[in-house]
Amino acid sequence: DETPRITVDYMRGILLPTATCDAWDLIWNFQAKPDDLLISTYPKAGTTWTQEIVDLIQNEGDVEMSKRAPTHIRFPFIEWIIPSIGSGLEQANAMPSPRNLKTHLPIELLPPSFLENNCKIIYVARNAKDNMVSYYHFQRMNKGLPDPGTWEEYFENFLAGKVCWGSWHDHVKGWWKAKDQHNILYLFYEEMKKNPKQEIQKLAEFIGKKLDDNVLDTIVHHTSFDVMKQNPMANYSSLPTEFMNHAISPFMRKGTVGDWKHHFTVAQNERFNEDYKKKMADTSLAFHFQF
Ligand code: PPS
Repeated sequence: DETPRITVDYMRGILLPTATCDAWDLIWNFQAKPDDLLISTYPKAGTTWTQEIVDLIQNEGDVEMSKRAPTHIRFPFIEWIIPSIGSGLEQANAMPSPRNLKTHLPIELLPPSFLENNCKIIYVARNAKDNMVSYYHFQRMNKGLPDPGTWEEYFENFLAGKVCWGSWHDHVKGWWKAKDQHNILYLFYEEMKKNPKQEIQKLAEFIGKKLDDNVLDTIVHHTSFDVMKQNPMANYSSLPTEFMNHAISPFMRKGTVGDWKHHFTVAQNERFNEDYKKKMADTSLAFHFQF
């Protein structure tokens, strides 16, 4: 249909929506408060899933409470500006404390007040191959991002870091390096899939909530892929269809580990692995990813 796609620009070497670049001074000077909780991710790494878990932890498993508003209202996305839909910054500034916030910014573009105020930050990383596949399908259905082009084109752009929010490798490495000096809990999508209860427990401890076993079980159930896919307050179906078209590819698409195997050719996989080895040679993080 006619809804135009957004345009993008570079901000300090990172590709971002033009509207975000235009508002950069305001975003960079965003005033975080010490009791803000920030969820930070590379796009499509498990943000929405983590947001739902965090909300339920804070509300001690109260499922009705978590349905009070859609995800993007409960967690303002600080650098997100879509004319006629909303500005994360304005939403955040109008929100009473304690606030839950979301960002996809690489650590070097994070507004400094978050670290200055020692805010709790939850970072979630997902293995690059599945992350790439998920991002490709998301760009197909979401007019808030550029057209991804063909899979072959997208594959090359992703490896070159020429996608919004920049290089996956730099993103996960930058946050990994920062985690020991700051109040950052670093989680992995694949661990959350393998052992959700254990990871939810870790999140609860970080947030400072002691939860009964039955509450943990409720949260595991309510934040499973199948339940979240049916939850209009957690599946992004509340946004206008001309903006996010779930008929092209649903926001809650598959929610699995290893879907890359259905997308990567043998040659692409070899090319990816070679490039990965180089880019991840300087970090202990490489060992934590399961493909
Ligand atoms: S966004 O737009 O950056 O906020 O997207 P994000 O939420 O980070 O990533 C979306 C992918 O996460 C999957 N997802 C889940 N997986 C497992 N369990 C649960 N509960 C869950 N909720 C969302 C979602 O399906 C997207 O991954 P793909 O691989 O595309 O299915």
